[in-house]
Amino acid sequence: MATTTNQQQKKKQHLSLFPLLSLLSFTSIFLLLSQFRNTSSPSLKTFSSIHNFQINNNNRRSGSTNCDYSNGNWIYDDESRISRYDETCKEIFKGWNCIKGNKSNGAEIAKWKWKPNGCNDLQRFDPVRFLQTHTHTSIGFVGDSLNRNMFVSLFCTLRSSVSNGQVKKWRPAGADRGFTFLTYNLTIAYHRTNLLARYGRWSASENGGALESLGFKEGYRVDVDVPDSTWAQAANFHDILIFNTGHWWWAPSKFDPVKSPMLFFKKGQPVIPPLHPDQGLDMVLEHMISYVEEKARPDAVKFFRTQSPRHFEGGDWDQGGSCQRDQPLSAEQVEELFSVKNNGTNVEVRLVNEHLYKSLKGSGFIILNITYLSELRADAHPASAGGKKHDDCMHWCLPGITDTWNDLFVEHLNNIKHRS
Ligand SMILES: *[C@@H]1O[C@H](CO)[C@@H](O)[C@H](O)[C@H]1NC(C)=O
Ligand SMILES: *[C@@H]1O[C@H](CO)[C@@H](O)[C@H](O)[C@H]1NC(C)=O
Ligand SMILES: *[C@@H]1O[C@H](CO)[C@@H](O)[C@H](O)[C@H]1NC(C)=O
Ligand SMILES: *[C@@H]1O[C@H](CO)[C@@H](O)[C@H](O)[C@H]1NC(C)=O
Repeated sequence: MATTTNQQQKKKQHLSLFPLLSLLSFTSIFLLLSQFRNTSSPSLKTFSSIHNFQINNNNRRSGSTNCDYSNGNWIYDDESRISRYDETCKEIFKGWNCIKGNKSNGAEIAKWKWKPNGCNDLQRFDPVRFLQTHTHTSIGFVGDSLNRNMFVSLFCTLRSSVSNGQVKKWRPAGADRGFTFLTYNLTIAYHRTNLLARYGRWSASENGGALESLGFKEGYRVDVDVPDSTWAQAANFHDILIFNTGHWWWAPSKFDPVKSPMLFFKKGQPVIPPLHPDQGLDMVLEHMISYVEEKARPDAVKFFRTQSPRHFEGGDWDQGGSCQRDQPLSAEQVEELFSVKNNGTNVEVRLVNEHLYKSLKGSGFIILNITYLSELRADAHPASAGGKKHDDCMHWCLPGITDTWNDLFVEHLNNIKHRS
């Protein structure tokens, strides 16, 4: 193509900036997560709503009634099949490229197969068939860097099945990045947003005000009813949407409760009395979910992905915590690490989910429940691959388990197609 050189140049410029920016933002996520721990324990009411929702959600699905994709085991498949894509996929951020980064088990991670309870192995989705069945379709990922991790997996899988020149890189509807597979007119895009709602720095005004009179001087203004501009246009642009939020909510290093708290605003006015972040999350979810329900196309398919677990052991990221395992955990180890009762380093994962389940109950969103299958995979984070100072026990190696998240996503899509 005539524009190739130009595109390559652009890509180069982009790439040279990118690692630094990403590193900064990953670091800040770690900072954010380091202190979050004192959230209240779940109420009985929350548990019963989780239960109800689970039943409703299961009923939505066709196919084997005994099949529970969210629960099961990982099985090592030694005669590993040809990989979907490899470490040469250019979208893989350097820190996630565990094969190039010489992680000792880097090439093993994708050899494990998810075996859900009550049914056969979760099928690896076929990229060519996917492209053929989703022509003239646009898919938007909206969320934090963990949703980007999933987006990159989908991109690399599809990219490996088409030849050069068939992919256009662009930024649909304000996306951070996106691609169209031209032969099929299938677009996929990633919209970066940490809280879903718009936020920015806030400082006390000299003229005073409700927050000022309570003694607030600095903080972050979070508008619970205003979507971040990075995705506000995405809701009615894409045919299929996949949302997430969670990691940035329990983040006292950025949203320090004293020095720079989250200050919630609704209809442009501060919410008084001020809310704790977990109450703010409920409010944001309520507004963002109804925003999407209102704006999305009538036939849009909307997913909300559950929280992705971190696996810091022996301390948090800044206390020498690491994730050096090379095998998945047992079910017992998972409970020990993640049960809310134990209040461990990574306890946020199930707390975030409680908020999500509560807010999504009764909505038109399909829950993409990847939490438990991911909790088992303590072996699948980049850790110190590529010579990091602190282990990355939050993002996932690629190829890796976000490939399985996409299998689950496609499985859900196929079930919806079969029903209609
Ligand atoms: C959980 O542990 C942290 C310290 O790691 C503590 O500050 C917090 O109060 C604990 N939360 C509960 C609910 O016990
Ligand atoms: C997600 O899956 C896990 C494991 O099966 C389960 O414990 C949890 O309740 C599920 N959540 C929902 C909302 O279905
Ligand atoms: C390509 O797909 C989009 C939906 O993603 C649709 O709006 C557009 O009309 C399609 N373009 C062509 C040329 O068919
Ligand atoms: C990985 O190992 C190769 C071969 O030993 C070496 O050339 C390369 O620099 C290493 N990469 C990293 C990121 O450490």
